[in-house]
Amino acid sequence: MLIALQDITFEFGSRVILENSSWHIEPGDRVGLIGLNGTGKSTLLRIINGEYSVSKGSVNKSKNLTIGFFNQDLLSFETDESILTVGMMAFGKALELEKEIDRLTKELEHDQTEELLHQFSDALHEFEALDGYNMKHKTAQVLEGLGFTTPDLDRPYSEFSGGWRMRVLLARLILQQPDVLMLDEPTNHLDLPSIEWLERYLVGYNGAVIIVSHDRYFLDRMVNGIVEVYQQQLHHYSGSYADYEVEKELRREMQQRAYENQQDYIRQQERFIERFKAKASKAAQAQSIAKRLDKLERVEQVDNGPSKIKINFSIDKTPGKILCTLNNISKAYGANEILKNTSAEINRGDKIALIGANGKGKSTLLRIIFGMEPMEGERVPGHNVVTSFYAQHQLESLDLNSEILDELKNFGSGRTELELRQLLGCFLFTGDDVFKKIRILSGGEKARVALAKTIISQANFLMLDEPTNHLDMNSVQMLIDALDKYEGSFVLVSHDRYFVSQTANKIWEIVDGEIKEFKGTYTEYEEWKKRMAAQQTAIPAKAAATTDHKKENKPAPASNNNAAAPKGAINKEVQRELQKQQKQFSQVEGQLASLKERKARLEASLGDPATYNDRTKFAQVESEYQEVQKFIDRANEQYEQLFEKIMQLEATLVTN
Ligand SMILES: Nc1ncnc2c1ncn2[C@@H]1O[C@H](COP(=O)(O)OP(=O)(O)OP(=O)(O)O)[C@@H](O)[C@H]1O
Ligand SMILES: [Mg+2]
Repeated sequence: MLIALQDITFEFGSRVILENSSWHIEPGDRVGLIGLNGTGKSTLLRIINGEYSVSKGSVNKSKNLTIGFFNQDLLSFETDESILTVGMMAFGKALELEKEIDRLTKELEHDQTEELLHQFSDALHEFEALDGYNMKHKTAQVLEGLGFTTPDLDRPYSEFSGGWRMRVLLARLILQQPDVLMLDEPTNHLDLPSIEWLERYLVGYNGAVIIVSHDRYFLDRMVNGIVEVYQQQLHHYSGSYADYEVEKELRREMQQRAYENQQDYIRQQERFIERFKAKASKAAQAQSIAKRLDKLERVEQVDNGPSKIKINFSIDKTPGKILCTLNNISKAYGANEILKNTSAEINRGDKIALIGANGKGKSTLLRIIFGMEPMEGERVPGHNVVTSFYAQHQLESLDLNSEILDELKNFGSGRTELELRQLLGCFLFTGDDVFKKIRILSGGEKARVALAKTIISQANFLMLDEPTNHLDMNSVQMLIDALDKYEGSFVLVSHDRYFVSQTANKIWEIVDGEIKEFKGTYTEYEEWKKRMAAQQTAIPAKAAATTDHKKENKPAPASNNNAAAPKGAINKEVQRELQKQQKQFSQVEGQLASLKERKARLEASLGDPATYNDRTKFAQVESEYQEVQKFIDRANEQYEQLFEKIMQLEATLVTN
């Protein structure tokens, strides 16, 4: 056993965070630590890390245990060294040896005593034992897995944004290979490809891993157990997240039944007391029943989550019909061209989700729309448009010393205290919560305050960059409801597919430096993509299908509204090409499907004790797995390229 928490109780002042809870952490554990925002997950990690001490119970760790703790505080680290160097700091001992070897080599050039030679060979030996020759390679591998390009590796750490710095620090931490790796919401800083990389990396991790995450897809693939902080207790579940959900539902039902039974019992006893307390012959008995009732350990009611939002997020001024026009915008970072001479328009009532991988320039585009990013081309803001921007760094701009309610008052939205409290209620701060100091808030609580500020700003146009980061599933739902009630327009960036599907009425994607607009919800967008893929199998029906989607005017550039395309020679040519591409597309799709199937089988095998207890077998399956992944990556690339080509061809067809 690595760590044993035994019957621990922990409180902040009078507020109990954990009561009488135990947890034994074993090697090989991959635990998802879950719970609503503010239930104490980060606090628990700090208890394990030794930063907080418990008021009851004990925390025991095995001798020489090493713990690696990934959290927001790491951001205070600063250096001008390259990110490769920062990553390699994980190999402290080997790095020292490398320097020692250099020194000895120089010395040996003019002084070759026996002793020096001995020292030299010892150092080499140890260096090799520590796998020193591989440290650079390993570091590069992990950094690249987390999304850095090879040229990035030599750039100074200080040049990177907060989110990317977190990735460097995450790389360093996992390279240190601590016995217990604790990651507090690592996926907040990652995009899909790097999340998938991390999943694969951690599945094979030697020590124990504890991960706080609100991302169920991630948890589902990662963990072999769940610990939930719920009603001040730790609840243990074995298996995946899906297993947890099933089991949790059972336990909820049981708890609810136990609660109801107990309530019946209490009511009955209370009636007895009420009736007989005044009657001399029964008074003593009534009193003893009352005492017993007082001592009764109460079953808590099942927590059904927050209730629906009731207030309206009205806006002050109605803006003009067009909120913002972008004409022939180009933007590049060095050689990296993000936008190439692209145009777009945002209309009143638009609820746009900007989707796609990191690095395609989603946040940049958001800042361009907001008008705080230099670029080439023209940005024309509409009349009466009041914008408000929400991004990760908004959390940092909160005044740590003020209380939640004051923070909103100071923001000068001109609302009364009653209104503000109502609003905070919607953002899940009730009762005395509103007097909490920002300093002590959990990540999700801070995010909710910042979001509340953004939404009440009276802006009629919101820009939201990854608003669901830090939020638990209840809070995400809360935000969906709030945005639904919001009368203004917005553009948001999100990787959360559920969130996007519930909020957006238009989907934007940056493809080859161009803004592609899909007029419809995310679900419709996905269906359209599927239809596109199915189309090429029915080749004779091709022309009809194309006209079909033209009518719906879905993926096509906003400017075209032709009803029927004249079928000239060019169109025939394009049609032929289209058919060819679509055929290839369906082939690649078929390949991808079978590769994914194979990957799933290997994944299952990797998670099987019969495999992971057998080193050679594990290594074999693991390497096959890596191989399959490579194929999948390649196929995905092809898939995307074909998809883009088809989009282009279709657009030509329609406009011709
Ligand atoms: N130093 C402190 N003093 C008083 N209360 C605190 C302190 N630090 C945190 N809290 C409160 O304790 C609760 C638990 O905080 P914690 O950060 O552990 O939550 P969490 O489960 O990690 O939430 P999230 O999912 O939002 O990250 C929160 O309600 C928070 O406001
Ligand atoms: Mg937390």
